[in-house]
Amino acid sequence: MHNLLKGKRGIITGALDQNSIAWKVAEKAHEQGATFVLTNAPIAMRMGEIKVLAEKTGSEIIPADATNVEELTNLYTQAQEILGGKIDFILHSIGMSVNIRKNIPYTESNYDYFMKGIDVSALSLHKMLSVAKKMDALNEGGSVVALTYMAAQRTYPFYTDMADIKAMLESIARSFGYHYGVEKKVRINTVSQSPTKTTAGTGIKGFGDFYDFADSIAPLGNADAESCADYCITLFSDLTRMVTMQNLFHDGGYSSTGVSTEVMERLSQQ
Ligand SMILES: NC(=O)c1ccc[n+]([C@@H]2O[C@H](COP(=O)([O-])OP(=O)(O)OC[C@H]3O[C@@H](n4cnc5c(N)ncnc54)[C@H](O)[C@@H]3O)[C@@H](O)[C@H]2O)c1
Repeated sequence: MHNLLKGKRGIITGALDQNSIAWKVAEKAHEQGATFVLTNAPIAMRMGEIKVLAEKTGSEIIPADATNVEELTNLYTQAQEILGGKIDFILHSIGMSVNIRKNIPYTESNYDYFMKGIDVSALSLHKMLSVAKKMDALNEGGSVVALTYMAAQRTYPFYTDMADIKAMLESIARSFGYHYGVEKKVRINTVSQSPTKTTAGTGIKGFGDFYDFADSIAPLGNADAESCADYCITLFSDLTRMVTMQNLFHDGGYSSTGVSTEVMERLSQQ
């Protein structure tokens, strides 16, 4: 154990089940000496799995819909009471598109669903940061990480409206990162993760084939949820105290590779 997060207090969103990236982050943060609260939308609580994680990591659960400013205010109030002080790190691990869930093609997007996707998956980061700033709930030098995907930079047709929504999420991280950095040296970054076998990931049409494709392009192969969690821990730690307003690729080299010999050989065999 390195105790990289010893003495730090955190809020971890998005742990739905054992496959969730946030679940692994919580396990690793616990291993590294952090104390934190877990939070998720009240509807996700009903599945009950999060209680297993809470027990395992000695943490409490505070339900909060990340689109609801009142519930977020309550989240910060309770989190500071439970943890005994201001917050040092936040993981934003929240994503949902009704258009994807309903298999609606991008060009025929339903706009009510689109707005819902923006609210849940991008504006929720702004709301979490804005409420924290108003309440002065974060410690100086605190670190916020939000998870994103490369469809914000390059087109992946099956990712539909989430591509635009992730672009907005990354922009919010930069914009808010400026203001919160100037005011309180709070750092805000996005981690652009490989395709990962989670509830949100596998809900995307053709995910399995695409997962294999990305795996055969990336020199190191796809990054799994556990290694993503390790990367998030470094970003919460003081070792990365001067890193902010960045979109950081965590993808085994996928984003810098045009094509791999493996894919070329497969194509030439067809
Ligand atoms: N799985 C992948 O392939 C992949 C790749 C890159 C980035 N990401 C991103 O990682 C993040 C975590 O997703 P995951 O893959 O671990 O899947 P997941 O389904 O385990 O997590 C998504 C979480 O969002 C929560 N959520 C949905 N609506 C909410 C709301 N209104 N308020 C609060 N929480 C809400 C869900 O309850 C769930 O816990 C998402 O932002 C996702 O886009 C995933």
